[in-house]
Amino acid sequence: MAPRIEAPEFRLTKTDVVKKVEDILAPLKLSEEVQKRIREVYDEEMRIGLARNPSRKSCLQMENTYLPELPNGTEEGEYLALDLGGTNFRVILLQLEKGRVVSDEVQHYFVPEPLRVGPGSELFDFLAACIYDFLETRSKLDHKLPLGFTFSFPMTQQDLNVGILVSWTKSFNCPGVVGEDAVKMLNEAIQRRGDLEVEVVAVLNDTTGTLVQGAFLDRKCAIGLIIGTGSNACYIERVDRVEKWEGTHGDIKEVVVDIEWGAFGDNGVLDFMKTEYDQMLDKNSLLVGSFTFEKLFSGKYLGELTRLVLVKLAEEGLMFGGKIPSQLLRPGSFPTRFVSLVEQFSMGIEGDIPTDQSEESAKHLDQDAVLKLARPVSSESCFHELGIEHGSDDLKILQQVCFAVTERAAILLAICLSATLMRVDREECTIAVDGSLYKYHPRLHHLLEHYIIKMTPGKKFSLLLAEDGSGKGAGLIAAIANRLRTRKHS
Ligand code: BGC
Repeated sequence: MAPRIEAPEFRLTKTDVVKKVEDILAPLKLSEEVQKRIREVYDEEMRIGLARNPSRKSCLQMENTYLPELPNGTEEGEYLALDLGGTNFRVILLQLEKGRVVSDEVQHYFVPEPLRVGPGSELFDFLAACIYDFLETRSKLDHKLPLGFTFSFPMTQQDLNVGILVSWTKSFNCPGVVGEDAVKMLNEAIQRRGDLEVEVVAVLNDTTGTLVQGAFLDRKCAIGLIIGTGSNACYIERVDRVEKWEGTHGDIKEVVVDIEWGAFGDNGVLDFMKTEYDQMLDKNSLLVGSFTFEKLFSGKYLGELTRLVLVKLAEEGLMFGGKIPSQLLRPGSFPTRFVSLVEQFSMGIEGDIPTDQSEESAKHLDQDAVLKLARPVSSESCFHELGIEHGSDDLKILQQVCFAVTERAAILLAICLSATLMRVDREECTIAVDGSLYKYHPRLHHLLEHYIIKMTPGKKFSLLLAEDGSGKGAGLIAAIANRLRTRKHS
């Protein structure tokens, strides 16, 4: 049964409160006109982002990834993959046979906060130390392993193995890395140690890895999408449309373009739709004034957005008997997993989402595993967990808030996905998706389908869960990089 799309029924014991709550939530509703404007702005930013000498800079990076082809089923051998983007760094050893990952050994290393915001060289020394630990444990220190590095941050790529950091996002902000090549910094850290044989052959974004993994699962795949802690997408573009491509592109016809849509709106083009909650959220964030689009809905922010709306409702005397619970005043106290949980309850689905809803755990859980971890709950669980006293009307209002932020998230994503779908030169296109919010939110998948169908009538598409693109995809891309090198030198 497809989950319902409409808002849960909204009846309260105090009927006058309904209207007041609706008024507070109204700015989160995107009218048809606003949706149309966002779409136009997005199309324009995409166009400028690909132009050679645009009159102004686009907020969409539209980065050429230099990945000209997808796996073709000939990829073989042993590869190392690194995955950095969240609080857990992963090292993965992959065995490929005929383009298929036949085994993968994974090890997680927690990246403590001081490393995430401390000097860049220390972060890269830590990554190199993790590689050493991983290989030493497996007695593989003397193996010459090609390495694919998933670095899930905005990069300027000048080649498949050159990735210059444009800005940090999410929970990272290490001085000394912006403007530097992440591959060079990693290689330097490896050389400083002098005891590793690995060679970084490719650097990639997690969306690219997801697209590659998706293409392995389904040949029609031409878009890679992440809806997790952060959000972003990449797609296969015709080379002749990448006007800004420097130099010749030989007989390459298509290339993967990393949109970096998290930064959509950083130049002010989305100011017209930002609410007071979005502004507050940005003001309190680690990287103020950047990653506008991502902050509107992604996993790192959706719970926080909900918290800010709840505080506003409490301030207006519409919840919690007019008292503002102190627990709610603490930034970050309402995690995004609560939104998924409330939504699940609103839909009448029994069971819980895992308490650990981090990006990293999502990479290792399929939908069945998620259900197995389920335990009975209700929307109340989040208030209980926070120790907040509440009445039954408070729960109904909470459902409306979660519905409103979810609905806006789905519409925003659908607008950009629809526009991207229309650019992709395919009659039928599969969108490979990964990320904790997509995996755990009970309605997001269905809402996305619903709105994309509405926004792209007649276009054939499907959304495919492509798990662990940043691990398996990195291995596959390292293999493609090897193939391209051999071809160049033969
Ligand atoms: C980064 C992207 C990444 C996305 C999903 C964003 O914050 O800028 O490069 O793809 O998060 O991890």
